[in-house]
Amino acid sequence: MIKKVGILTAGGDCPGLNAVIRGAVKTAEYNGVETYGFIEGYKGLLENKYIKLDSYVTSGIIHKGGTILGSNNKTNTFAIPVKKENGEVEYVDKSYEIAERLKQDNFDCLIIVGGDGSLKSARDYMRRGLNVIGVPKTIDNDVPYTDTTFGFDTAVGVATEAVDRLHTTAESHGRIMVLEVMGRYAGWIALEAGIAGGADTVLIPEIPYDLNKVLDKINQRRSMGKNFSLIVVAEGAMPKEGTISIRKTEENGGGLDTIKLGGAGEYVAREIEKLAGQEARATNLGYVQRGGDTSHYDRILATEYGSAAMQLAIDGKFGEMITLLNGKLTHVSLDDVAGKDTEIGSKSSNLKLVDLNGDLVNTARRIGICLGD
Ligand code: F6P
Repeated sequence: MIKKVGILTAGGDCPGLNAVIRGAVKTAEYNGVETYGFIEGYKGLLENKYIKLDSYVTSGIIHKGGTILGSNNKTNTFAIPVKKENGEVEYVDKSYEIAERLKQDNFDCLIIVGGDGSLKSARDYMRRGLNVIGVPKTIDNDVPYTDTTFGFDTAVGVATEAVDRLHTTAESHGRIMVLEVMGRYAGWIALEAGIAGGADTVLIPEIPYDLNKVLDKINQRRSMGKNFSLIVVAEGAMPKEGTISIRKTEENGGGLDTIKLGGAGEYVAREIEKLAGQEARATNLGYVQRGGDTSHYDRILATEYGSAAMQLAIDGKFGEMITLLNGKLTHVSLDDVAGKDTEIGSKSSNLKLVDLNGDLVNTARRIGICLGD
């Protein structure tokens, strides 16, 4: 029987993290297991900073965005930058040391709540001999082997409201309104918010776009007397003959996602204004998609994930990620999620992208949404 479990929330914050922590802690307490939360994700693991969690600490947090444990998307414990005497930086693998310390401190299992990169590190810790369980987190919905990740529903809700709000101002001014939403290299948020908000055009990373097709859509609307258009652009969208829009590249160690996307919406607005000869305005929705209260769907999903992850730990089923497959709560191997062949400490490339032959894309096309192709 296990006695002591650690939990950490890694990567960008996301609505539902607190509900996961609460679900896990309550399930642990019910079974007489102690839970400790590492502070700021893998940074807390590196610095050995953790706090005891119980139902007192986790009360009143189910609805709150963010994470009471803090998070961090800059620490890759498999490649920590260390400055040498000659000023050069070398990357040191601290994972062996960390895994050994956790074992000595009698941690029976570590629950890692994170997106694709953090789950890959979870798989790598498993290879270092730790008992690990993963929980899929991200507003981007790009983790494979799960129908959905918690946080996505809340983000789509916020993005849909933004499309609604832009609609009324677009119509009043006869403008082209461009909304840039998050999602990294996947177009899930853009596509769902675009369909739900009644957008005319949705540009996603999975379909490199041609602005002339977007212009055709604008003209088609004009010919039926609609002198305004709504375009939703995923931050990772790119023109057919072009590249993705990068806000900055961070030098923060091997294995991490160092590219910060941004500017795709501004680009589309600028170019389409010239092509269409009509005022265009861009709005970058940004971090409001990640912050604030959690939707009821995400509260329930996150509670289920947290509770089921702790139950897996209690049942001794390690090396797994909790998942929702065909609407049923189950688990899959972290090896499958991370991609069996990916090297330890390297970036994950096993992302779940929008299925170009799937229901969402087909529906969008059938109702006349322009996807830029
Ligand atoms: O992965 C979640 C996400 O919010 C992406 O949608 C976005 O590209 C990225 O994180 C932003 O990360 P950061 O917090 O490093 O700016």
